[in-house]
Amino acid sequence: MLEFLARKTLQALPAETAHNLAIKALGSPLSIFTQAKQIKNPVELMGITFPNPVGMAAGFDKNGDAIDGLARQGFGFIEIGTITPKPQPGNDRPRLFRLGCDNAIINRMGFNNKGIDYLVKQVKKAKYKGVLGINIGKNKTTPNDKAVDDYVHCFAKAHTLCDYITVNISSPNTPDLRELQNDQALVELLSGIKNQQLLSQKNNEKYTPVLVKISPDQNEQQLEFMVQQIKASGLDGIICTNTTIDRPESLKSDAQVIEQAGGLSGQPLYQKSNETLRLVRKFAGDDFPIIAVGGIIDKKDALEKFRLGANLVQVYTGFVLKGSSLITQINDYLSGENTQ
Ligand SMILES: Cc1cc2nc3c(=O)[nH]c(=O)nc-3n(C[C@H](O)[C@H](O)[C@H](O)COP(=O)(O)O)c2cc1C
Repeated sequence: MLEFLARKTLQALPAETAHNLAIKALGSPLSIFTQAKQIKNPVELMGITFPNPVGMAAGFDKNGDAIDGLARQGFGFIEIGTITPKPQPGNDRPRLFRLGCDNAIINRMGFNNKGIDYLVKQVKKAKYKGVLGINIGKNKTTPNDKAVDDYVHCFAKAHTLCDYITVNISSPNTPDLRELQNDQALVELLSGIKNQQLLSQKNNEKYTPVLVKISPDQNEQQLEFMVQQIKASGLDGIICTNTTIDRPESLKSDAQVIEQAGGLSGQPLYQKSNETLRLVRKFAGDDFPIIAVGGIIDKKDALEKFRLGANLVQVYTGFVLKGSSLITQINDYLSGENTQ
């Protein structure tokens, strides 16, 4: 009931103010007074035991300010970031929009974050001992032909502090970032990151799996190329998908909001994200790790992602709309306790 009231209050505030308040509340010592949920529904993947297969997607806690609070919500794993080498302010506000009648969000945050050194301190301070992913990106001012340096820098600083690293090359809100998904740029980026992963393993005796987060706005041919290159590089998995720049006909919100530039997430992303997932599973084969994210608002949405070949799922917009009950419902549903 309290969680419901808090969510209703937050929904009455401007979207970014509400988000910042939620991060503050989850990051405050008071969050220990909320009943911690621990949901056991274990999955083994990439040599990691995930207590349950429902994770917090990247972008909610970009700087690692709310790790312990998020851990109390019942997630099986938490992904923080996207983090870049240097702090940067992101795009001008407003840059976050709710599409209430569509169960959706449009954002063009633009990797606003406090930089990798800040995030490293936050992770070291956190008490959380569960599965942690750190999602890394490049600074806006770094040109694409130097992007690999930013990813390698963040990888080297972060990899001993987490269970996996996500390479984000699919945000629509950093100019030209998605170009890194194509052709030679992709091949060079993947090989630079693989080299760093092996070097870091040699130096620290810790192998940290790397997943590549991809966009839902690629055609079948582009997806096939990407999957082939990611597998050939020896990296460990794919996160499928980021937000879309499409605006489906079905959207019912005000035109002024629908026309805002940025990535669309939530229910209207679901079909597109699922089609990408289906193709990625087809091209990657049965055994390649895939984390699916995009449009999970309900337990049945999550089940369909597993049916299409996901090993794990993540939620963002659904968590903003429904809170931690969504995590419980998905897990109950998967373990057959509530199949209504
Ligand atoms: C406000 C907002 C900020 C986001 N920031 C990031 C980010 O920094 N890095 C990233 O990889 N994905 C980011 N995402 C994308 C989500 O992680 C997720 O892939 C996408 O929203 C689809 O999932 P959903 O439909 O459950 O929200 C962001 C999404 C939203 C709504």
